[in-house]
Amino acid sequence: MEDIENKTLFAPSPDDLSSLVDELIDGIIWLDINLNVISANHAFVKLSGYHEHQLIGKELNTLFKDDLSSVRNQATEQRQTFGPCNLINKDGYEIATVASFLRLNHHRDTIIIIVHNMSDLRELQDKVRKYKDRLEWAHFETRQAHNEAKQANQQKTLFLANLSHEIRTPLNGIIGMTELLMNTEINNKQSHYLACVYEAGEHLLAIINDVLDLSKIEAGEMPISQTQCSIHHIIDNMKTIFGPKIEAKNLQLNIHPLEKDLHVITDPVRIKQILVNLLGNALKFTESGSITLSTSCIPCPSDNNKMLVTFEVTDTGVGIAADALGTIFQKFTQAHFDAPQSFGGTGLGLAICKKLCLLMDGNIDVKSQENKGSTFSFTLPLMINHEPKT
Ligand SMILES: Nc1ncnc2c1ncn2[C@@H]1O[C@H](COP(=O)(O)OP(=O)(O)OP(=O)(O)O)[C@@H](O)[C@H]1O
Ligand SMILES: [Mg+2]
Repeated sequence: MEDIENKTLFAPSPDDLSSLVDELIDGIIWLDINLNVISANHAFVKLSGYHEHQLIGKELNTLFKDDLSSVRNQATEQRQTFGPCNLINKDGYEIATVASFLRLNHHRDTIIIIVHNMSDLRELQDKVRKYKDRLEWAHFETRQAHNEAKQANQQKTLFLANLSHEIRTPLNGIIGMTELLMNTEINNKQSHYLACVYEAGEHLLAIINDVLDLSKIEAGEMPISQTQCSIHHIIDNMKTIFGPKIEAKNLQLNIHPLEKDLHVITDPVRIKQILVNLLGNALKFTESGSITLSTSCIPCPSDNNKMLVTFEVTDTGVGIAADALGTIFQKFTQAHFDAPQSFGGTGLGLAICKKLCLLMDGNIDVKSQENKGSTFSFTLPLMINHEPKT
């Protein structure tokens, strides 16, 4: 075992200490009681730009921009910091430093000042400040550009909404007059022509309505009413609208309503609008088989007064390719490249459905397999109406 007790601590010689002081990065000066330099290490000589002999006898206050004379009374054995303060080098340039001072116990007449060069740090700080300024400016510009784009978009939306409204009014006149004309005495050929005009008018009106709705939603101006209604009533309504059309296409319509009707306070017009879009798509993209409309509900976990009601439209139609599923809720997006020619439409229906669902704090989802069919489902948190009007 080693003899620890006989070990002695290494005692550096005065020469060792002197070289160590010269190797330090920080500058050191020794001052007499009048604050005149009596010695300086290598680092300080380098920092100040003076020769060592030029430094000897120099007054402390000629070396610093700041008045350091208070160190005479304040210096103790505890190292204290003065600064940041600026050293003035031989050429008159200011160098940012932090000075600290102390007085050794056995050398009461000597004050030691240790000078740490901060100019690199200052430079770095300046750079950081400049980057920060630039970043703030870029942020400001981005915000401004964002606001301008938002404003431009709102103006565009408003323009579109106004335009759609202006087109809708005369179009309703055309459709109405065509309908009246169809009820007058005309021959078969004329009747066929008028039916074509009527159908085209209706089609155009549907597109304009979609554009108008989308513009309203995007401008944040789509009102969502709070009306008393029943889920059974909404489903019955869909059956009335779509029953004949589905039958006319030789498809089977299955309806699975809630076991017990649920009375809610919501915007039934918007729920019907979503269902009309989904059932319209199911009808458009299904040539054989069936279309099923189901509803289910569960209590809303975050609110006792609400139920999460899910509406589901399933068809046995052409289905949607997996790679197209992610984009079909975007506006003007169609999953079938021949959709406009073969099926008609502009690719706005599902975008409107999604936006309406979000507006009503719900969500919409799709599952589909090509050539097997699709299921679109949306879930809304609906306020329970405990006292329904009878
Ligand atoms: N039930 C469905 N079966 C197969 N594909 C569907 C079905 N529903 C939607 N799609 C696909 O999603 C696309 C987008 O549907 P969306 O309802 O948004 O537009 P659209 O029906 O083509 O036109 P619009 O609804 O504006 O008249 C459709 O073009 C179609 O490719
Ligand atoms: Mg559609």
